Amino acid sequence: MNKDLIIPTHVGIIVDGNGRWAQNKNLSRSEGHRAGFYRLKEICIYAKEMGIKYLSLYVFSTENFKREKKEVDYLMNLFVKLYNDEFLDLIANGIKVIFSGRREPLPKKVLSAMDKMEEASKNNTEAVVNFCINYGGQSEILDMTKKIVQQVVDGKIKTDDITLETLRENLYQNLPPLDYVIRTSGELRLSNFMLYQASYAEFYFPKTYFPDFTKNDFYDAIVEFNKRNRRFGGNAS
Ligand code: FPP
Repeated sequence: MNKDLIIPTHVGIIVDGNGRWAQNKNLSRSEGHRAGFYRLKEICIYAKEMGIKYLSLYVFSTENFKREKKEVDYLMNLFVKLYNDEFLDLIANGIKVIFSGRREPLPKKVLSAMDKMEEASKNNTEAVVNFCINYGGQSEILDMTKKIVQQVVDGKIKTDDITLETLRENLYQNLPPLDYVIRTSGELRLSNFMLYQASYAEFYFPKTYFPDFTKNDFYDAIVEFNKRNRRFGGNAS
């Protein structure tokens, strides 16, 4: 690994292309998700080894509940499998696991697995992996707004005291802004992923379907990040 590489603090991945990957191989969509699942675990550990402190993964949007029941059930079982079979490896790597998204209508077994992972990894400090499950960026902003309005109504804060920091603290998780968003499969959309946090992020859209997105591809993505000239609204240098 090149030690001169600038490592972004917070990277987001919009996991995409599992279904097309499977279709190309005459496999079921579930097979695609299964392959993506193992790829995702590999990337979590590799990102931590690279020194990435925060990794947010868009693995199930609110809209994904509209998919066929069979596919939704398969994905829900994968979240439970994450806890039962793969979580210890994440723990052993010092990774703290957190979640973003609405709890309703996630099944009880998924919520219970999520709660156990958060509790068991809460003291880990090497890196944070934020799984966005039943997540929508607009809903997150709506939920944040309701929380803040309630605090004003309850007299806990004054309207004039609301700052950008107040907004950040009331999102699902209080994380640093996204530096870099990677979306696999060649689609050029944000699809409601961390709208507030991505305000100044750089974007990268490799054509690779997620199950084929290797550690080397992730490394190449970080090399590409190093070529960007981030100005945060300032002048070109
Ligand atoms: C997008 O591909 C992928 C998803 C909707 C699910 C992502 C889930 C995983 C990688 C596995 C589960 C992860 C955990 C953490 C348990 P798509 O199905 O939209 O692909 P397509 O656009 O080619 O149809």
